[in-house]
Amino acid sequence: MLKDMRRFHTCNCYYTDNIFIEKYKLHVRFVSEDQFRKDYQNILRTLGCTTDAQLDDVLDDIQSEVERRKNLAIQSAERKAIIKKTHKPLREHVYSLQESHLAPEFLEIVKYCHTDDATEEGLLSLLTTEAAPRVYRFPVFTKDFCRDLVEELEHFEQSDAPKGRPNTMNNYGVLLDELGLDEGVVSPLREEYLGPLSALLFPDCGGRWLDSHKAFAVKYAVHEDVDLSYHYDNAEVTLNVSLGKDFSGGNLYFGDMRQVPLCETECAEVEHHVTQAVLHRGQQMHGALPVTAGVRWNLVVWMRASRQRNLLCPMCGAPPSLRPAPGRGDGFTDESGREGVCALT
Ligand SMILES: [Fe+2]
Ligand SMILES: [Zn+2]
Repeated sequence: MLKDMRRFHTCNCYYTDNIFIEKYKLHVRFVSEDQFRKDYQNILRTLGCTTDAQLDDVLDDIQSEVERRKNLAIQSAERKAIIKKTHKPLREHVYSLQESHLAPEFLEIVKYCHTDDATEEGLLSLLTTEAAPRVYRFPVFTKDFCRDLVEELEHFEQSDAPKGRPNTMNNYGVLLDELGLDEGVVSPLREEYLGPLSALLFPDCGGRWLDSHKAFAVKYAVHEDVDLSYHYDNAEVTLNVSLGKDFSGGNLYFGDMRQVPLCETECAEVEHHVTQAVLHRGQQMHGALPVTAGVRWNLVVWMRASRQRNLLCPMCGAPPSLRPAPGRGDGFTDESGREGVCALT
């Protein structure tokens, strides 16, 4: 069996950049208090952060977010070990992806991508194209699989197991790696099914070279997170599947790539139906409208291509400054030539 022996890395910007201040819906960079005051004090004032005490609260929040990020890998590995030992699944079959979990239309789409003469145009004729540029929609899972997966996620959510936050903007959800869904579900989904699609749709954004991912389920409900502010992902290609349950509102909206100024951007709304995925470039700005009733679960996979991000970090927009990380880190690899690429085991 070919085993990927590469050491994965994170970009050092993870510890300074894209820190989200929830109260003022603002992403900031924090290197020092002086730099922070200089860069953001005026903007924060216009957003209602006017007193010293309010600014101190913001600085405290930043401090704890940076600490969380520094300890994340170790704490995540600890949680994963505890969950593996103690968590009793409710729906065992969702931990191992089977063809019977996938929508027949999706299997047809992937089959087409595997044919020798597959083209982007041919593939597009099988997908729903959206008003937003290069945003595509198609069924992925069966209804039964979505229902069982949500039941499993809620069973885990209600258990005493330790839980990590899915990402820096969502407060409610499940990290799929920690729950043990990564190896059996997300990896085969990326490698065997989504890779061939992304290669045809996003060859210019690393779609041919997807070699790692971060996956989580996010939950929106009226008294929890209701929406998601406009942002870009730490991904080359993002998959977002609507899993259920019953909800109103919560459509996604898309603008342009992050490099395009906001004033030149018009947003397009994309409907999201249960069992269907929306596939888009990670660097295309997007958000989620408020859920107005019910509970909405989404499966999000941030797919990464080391070949692409090793050149330019998608988060700081500069060549990455690498720091070795456990697991798949943030999907960067060191290509300076000292590391082996593969080992036969
Ligand atoms: Fe996103
Ligand atoms: Zn970076």
